[in-house]
Amino acid sequence: MAIPLICQCPERQQEAAQLRARYGFVEAGQSPCALVLTAERLELRKTDEPKLGAVYVDFVEGAMAHRRKFGGGRGQAIAKAVGLKKGANPTVIDATAGLGRDAFVLASLGCEVQLIERHPAVAALLEDGLARAALDLDVAPIAMRMSLHHGVAVELLPTMSADVVYLDPMFPHRDKSALVKKEMRIFQTLVGSDPDADALLAAARQAARLKVVVKRPDYAEPLAGAKPASSVPTKKNRFDIYPQ
Ligand SMILES: C[S@@+](CC[C@H](N)C(=O)[O-])C[C@H]1O[C@@H](n2cnc3c(N)ncnc32)[C@H](O)[C@@H]1O
Repeated sequence: MAIPLICQCPERQQEAAQLRARYGFVEAGQSPCALVLTAERLELRKTDEPKLGAVYVDFVEGAMAHRRKFGGGRGQAIAKAVGLKKGANPTVIDATAGLGRDAFVLASLGCEVQLIERHPAVAALLEDGLARAALDLDVAPIAMRMSLHHGVAVELLPTMSADVVYLDPMFPHRDKSALVKKEMRIFQTLVGSDPDADALLAAARQAARLKVVVKRPDYAEPLAGAKPASSVPTKKNRFDIYPQ
């Protein structure tokens, strides 16, 4: 179903038209979600639940800024799983980029990260977040280490390579916290599930020079039923590691 992109800022009509042409959005139409281009940013809103608030990518302020400053640096679980010890900065493909939070954490710790996102609305939100990040003095050097590819990972991965391929496919969440609830509700409505998630592991193993890292909720079975060599646990998730 085509997603409407509504422009609320008269000065940005041309930009809106370019986004519609590039990603296949429409000017108006019936859809449970819509993109809205405001004077500040591109937002995703759930049209049938306007009170839910908007989802957008913000690498400069809010939760991502807090995590960048106080998130635990190379000691945090994702950094350990990817292998950022002793000054190593592996190159990474984040093949299920979503809103780019994990990719941003890795880029802020020094990794060059290529992001793959297949959903046009999510890719457009990421592109907008990266463009705004590039205008911020502190965050621009991090954003420069992140490059976005809009496409399907199983098709793009055979043409790419990196030290580490990172995967975080959709999985039904049990988490009831307000933020997760809001984002997951909008995300589930928009993106749905990832029925081809199992096929991703094989494609990722072809593209990774050192290892594949898969983020899973702690209660979920391993991706594709494949037992990892090791795992790094967090409070609610774990990172399963598949060395080459
Ligand atoms: C759970 S979210 C990832 C969240 C992300 N790790 C973050 O930190 O924001 C999963 C995302 O992967 C995308 N995705 C799933 N399978 C994909 C594939 N085969 N190719 C590209 N993107 C994919 C979905 O569209 C969704 O946006």
